[in-house]
Amino acid sequence: MNDQAANLRKQMERAETGKTTKVVSIISGKGGVGKTNFSVNLGIGLSQLGKKVLIIDLDIGMANIDIVTGITTTNSIVDMIEEKLSIFNIMTTGPAGLSFISGGSGLTEIFQLDALKLSYFIRQIELLHSHFDYILFDLGAGITKDSLNFILASDEAILILTPEPTSITDGYALVKALNQHEQRLSLHMIVNSCDNEDEGYETAVRFKRATREFLGLDISIIGTLPFDRTVSQAVRTQIPFLLYAPKSKVSKAMNKIIYSYTGHAVTETKGLQGFISTLSNLLSPRKKRGSRNG
Ligand SMILES: Nc1ncnc2c1ncn2[C@@H]1O[C@H](COP(=O)(O)OP(=O)(O)OP(=O)(O)O)[C@@H](O)[C@H]1O
Ligand SMILES: [Mg+2]
Repeated sequence: MNDQAANLRKQMERAETGKTTKVVSIISGKGGVGKTNFSVNLGIGLSQLGKKVLIIDLDIGMANIDIVTGITTTNSIVDMIEEKLSIFNIMTTGPAGLSFISGGSGLTEIFQLDALKLSYFIRQIELLHSHFDYILFDLGAGITKDSLNFILASDEAILILTPEPTSITDGYALVKALNQHEQRLSLHMIVNSCDNEDEGYETAVRFKRATREFLGLDISIIGTLPFDRTVSQAVRTQIPFLLYAPKSKVSKAMNKIIYSYTGHAVTETKGLQGFISTLSNLLSPRKKRGSRNG
């Protein structure tokens, strides 16, 4: 386990205010499978539930979030470090009260920073603690030395697959690479761009079985998203699909995922409330599919 990931985790875990911030990396083996759209719409959905959410765009140099939301961030994490800005100065608020930060180009150097710069970065991240319920990292595809730190420092990762064989094999390679490190994080998955729900669940269950059998890992399935033209229409208008077309197939499926995901997430931090939401999740006929985890 490298020191940086350990430090980041320690800082994030320091519950000074009693409020727990869940840090979640959105990951995929193959590029272009829907990570950015998923991150943004997960953020929107959680915000609509009254959660405070921050998305950090770490897809270095790609400015992904900007494209999907139409929001331009003026300063990045790189500027924050170089110009000693407060993390709140580089934050932009978007639809549904969702907050954004961009990694910025040249972020790669962050990981070879001198100790002072690194501690400044960590201190600024620490300041986020009482302000957010969720911090979502939108990462580039695959695994680089850079993204690995963020993934391993997270509480959990959500793996995005599609039913395509290349997405599955690349996703498997990514999970296998993560598994080679001591650091354990809880892993969830969704299957995006499915022809139908059955296809999505078949893919998810097969993947879950393989990772359990060959890697000894337990990945929970939090749902599937259909292929829906609404997504590209929403991207073109730069409005997240949950807001652009709340009644579309993809938005309905996304709401189901958010319902299932918060059922999982809440149990760890909010006792009875989590118990109730998980129970209602399991008892609802619609949700039975989402509970195909074990
Ligand atoms: N469920 C879906 N239905 C139809 N199109 C989709 C769906 N999900 C994503 N797309 C389309 O796939 C493309 C890639 O999506 P997105 O940018 O979210 O992927 P990504 O994993 O972030 O890509 P990258 O690895 O390049 O960052 C977009 O053009 C988007 O419109
Ligand atoms: Mg992206």
